[in-house]
Amino acid sequence: MLQSICDGCTSGLVVNVAICHQGAEAGMTQVFVCKDTEMKDGDVRIVRQDKTEVGVYRHAGSYYAYRNHCLHQGGPACEGIIRGKVVDLYAPDKTFVAQTYDNDEPHIICPWHGWEYKLKTGECAPDPKLRLRKYEVVQREGGIYVVI
Ligand code: FES
Repeated sequence: MLQSICDGCTSGLVVNVAICHQGAEAGMTQVFVCKDTEMKDGDVRIVRQDKTEVGVYRHAGSYYAYRNHCLHQGGPACEGIIRGKVVDLYAPDKTFVAQTYDNDEPHIICPWHGWEYKLKTGECAPDPKLRLRKYEVVQREGGIYVVI
């Protein structure tokens, strides 16, 4: 990753020049999501830039952003619920006991037909070769931005 001080920035921060400031070099834009005080863990915001919608998530203090476009049939994946990975529980004799949720591995669940994506990577849970398009999230000057 190219790191340098962007001429357009007044913050003096070292950033990825390709996405810095207005992103003019790469034709990308930092789209304002919200103030950083406005998102808490478990929140999601949907932002739009031209025809692209992106879901921005906060989980365990980190931010993740994915295109709001399910790989199944194009549904609004990021508008679905977030739920922990389903885990099977077995007795010592290996008989099935029950299922529970692993909240350390949250999944985004598309509201149309239930395809699941790992929140931390965007991978489709049953097929990691498929993944939601990921976007970079930038925190600066008290705001959250997504680079689209
Ligand atoms: S469009 Fe998302 S599960 Fe079908």
